[in-house]
Amino acid sequence: MNQIPNPRWTGPRIKHESTTAAPYGAITVEKVTPIIGAEISGVDLGNPTEAQMAEIHRALAENLVIFFREQHMTPEQHLAFGERFGTLHIHPAAPTEGGHAGLMIIKADRDSPRANGEGWHSDVSCDEEPPMGSILYIKQCPPVGGDTLFANMYAAYDALSERMKAYIDGLTAVHDGEENYRGTYANFGVKDRPAYPRAVHPVVRTHPVTGKKALFVNKGFTRRILDIPLDESTGVLAYLFEHMANPLFQCRFRWRENSVAFWDNRCAQHRAMWDYWPATRYGNRVTVKGDRPV
Ligand code: SIN
Repeated sequence: MNQIPNPRWTGPRIKHESTTAAPYGAITVEKVTPIIGAEISGVDLGNPTEAQMAEIHRALAENLVIFFREQHMTPEQHLAFGERFGTLHIHPAAPTEGGHAGLMIIKADRDSPRANGEGWHSDVSCDEEPPMGSILYIKQCPPVGGDTLFANMYAAYDALSERMKAYIDGLTAVHDGEENYRGTYANFGVKDRPAYPRAVHPVVRTHPVTGKKALFVNKGFTRRILDIPLDESTGVLAYLFEHMANPLFQCRFRWRENSVAFWDNRCAQHRAMWDYWPATRYGNRVTVKGDRPV
């Protein structure tokens, strides 16, 4: 007779990375969780040295999202820091600050119909070449609330069963910006666009720097998996969205004014909590262009 499997084996398994990496010398890196996130100190992002920049690159690759406190960058320094990682991305729909096309306004207050990034997503994954990273500098915080959650998509992929990995490897999915962007920025006087970005990406992508596989579907933009029936796509996406939202893969960042979060959209998703209405939360995001996912 077949053995009935242990019904308590229901959850994903988390693989812990080795912690034997070389120490950092130019910055201090303190992990927020073993899975994702690190707080970096000992650097002024308005004026980093070459040695610090090299270690910031490394810390981002190792931790997927890195946080900095007590930063005092001008808009020009914020843009220049982003440019150290690549060409800046211009958002297809969002309002921008002070005539800088690359400086997106992130703001919610009493009059906002919605806040940015309320559901799990990877920034602008509806672009043909979605951003590699986003650098958010929060300048005004609500008295409490407004945290951002980040989730590790390597860990989410690794924790899938081998059968599920075999099933989704090689599938592609449609990412569409319309539902997310239509009307979102009306309170800034930004008009809707006649066409919103739409792209097809692999469900599992390989990170161009680390070579690791990451789950690359998100609730904000991914609408359907191609080449399978629609009801099957709906069911598989619902499973993947629930799976990736497991708190085991996450960290949560509590903002203070003048904090910066820099996340890698190729392997992490994020979700902003709009739990502070009617208070105001305000800052700017610089977003760095990325490659076509493969
Ligand atoms: C976003 O860029 O998606 C917004 C994140 C946040 O406001 O914390």
